[in-house]
Amino acid sequence: MDINFQSKTPIVVLVSGRGSNLQALHRAAQNFSIVGIISDNQNAGGVNFAQENSIPVRVLPKVPPSQRGQYTEELIAAIQFFSPDWIALAGFMQIIRPAMIEKFKDQIINIHPALLPQYPGLDTHARALADNAKEHGCTVHLVDCGVDTGATIAQMALEVATGITAEELAHQVLALEHQLYAWVLNNLCQKNIVVKAGEIKYSAQSVSDAKSRGIRLPL
Ligand code: GRF
Repeated sequence: MDINFQSKTPIVVLVSGRGSNLQALHRAAQNFSIVGIISDNQNAGGVNFAQENSIPVRVLPKVPPSQRGQYTEELIAAIQFFSPDWIALAGFMQIIRPAMIEKFKDQIINIHPALLPQYPGLDTHARALADNAKEHGCTVHLVDCGVDTGATIAQMALEVATGITAEELAHQVLALEHQLYAWVLNNLCQKNIVVKAGEIKYSAQSVSDAKSRGIRLPL
């Protein structure tokens, strides 16, 4: 009997919308397994994807600001249920509260469609074009209490073509996001990248692999 005992690192993905990064992670998962998906939007494409792929999904609909304390407790409990090593935000449109950051120290990461610290927040592509930015791209970073302010783990960049629209640019950056997020998670789960007390350490192998793929590390 051929039984594979090799276990993959469990991760949970939080989504609010379309879920293309979630799908890219699912496709490229080598060293990890998506054991649960949590969404604040029942109609999210990511919820649909979870159901179609028999991945356990939990929906916690958004609440008004006055109930966010209780909501955060429920979110924490929903995540703990899956006992993940990593919590990947993939278009989860909420600011993560300090109680959750505290609970999952060095375990929450996010993908952002800009080369942080440039363009945190929304409408990154239009803002980059309005500034005539020469390059643009995406960042995977640790999540802290600010908006897109946590330490950068890795980035991918592209040259902004003359005359490109924000929509076209978003499309190009999204293709990089899909590569970058999977690369970071596979390396984190293989311990080629290690995060401890907010500090990120890279193995020599991850550094040379990043270089060969055009992935930038903050070294
Ligand atoms: C991505 O651009 C991601 O960087 C940002 O939200 C978007 C989510 O897209 N945080 P999708 O739901 O993964 O398709």
